[in-house]
Amino acid sequence: MKKILMVVGSMRNGSFNQQVAKHIAKLLKNKAEVAFLDYKDLPFMNQDIEYPTPEAVKHVRSEVDSADGLWIVSPEYNHSIPAVLKNFLDWISRPNEANNPKAGKASADKKVTFSGIGGSNETAGCRNDLFNLCKFIGMNIVGDRGTGLQFNRETFATGKVTFSEEDNAKLLAQVDAFLAYL
Ligand SMILES: Cc1cc2nc3c(=O)[nH]c(=O)nc-3n(C[C@H](O)[C@H](O)[C@H](O)COP(=O)(O)O)c2cc1C
Repeated sequence: MKKILMVVGSMRNGSFNQQVAKHIAKLLKNKAEVAFLDYKDLPFMNQDIEYPTPEAVKHVRSEVDSADGLWIVSPEYNHSIPAVLKNFLDWISRPNEANNPKAGKASADKKVTFSGIGGSNETAGCRNDLFNLCKFIGMNIVGDRGTGLQFNRETFATGKVTFSEEDNAKLLAQVDAFLAYL
């Protein structure tokens, strides 16, 4: 089975996007091996500490290396990418060794697809920026700008995301397309 690494763009306890990622993992059950990336200990990118590579960065890069594809599920912050997620993408875009571009970088050719839940524009601004950034850092984007979902009234009242038939159909189509590509 192919291995998919879920990368959630929110560190919030009870995150709606984390719930969406878990739902996607259920849709992938018996179709792929799924892991969730824990990257809360990544330092902020600062070239003063870039080499020797910090342990937390090595760990995250090895998780990315061992996955066949990344599934990014993220909220939109001010119509763009949350800083924690941008920071992760910046780290994996850099060469593994100082002054040695041939040492490779974790983002190169890595297959990736995007989803997110948000307000009325369904995280379109974030997913568009992810598309541009991931393309720039050499990732292999599957499914264009991906799948957006919208909060409903219950989401904030209960703190729980519920999925309509339409939501499930969109996510299942993305599951099938991603697996076919992997
Ligand atoms: C700094 C900040 C900016 C935000 N900007 C947007 C936005 O542009 N569009 C949107 O739909 N929601 C926006 N939100 C609201 C988030 O969608 C909402 O807080 C959501 O719960 C975050 O996702 P999470 O539940 O996975 O943490 C913003 C929230 C924060 C904290």
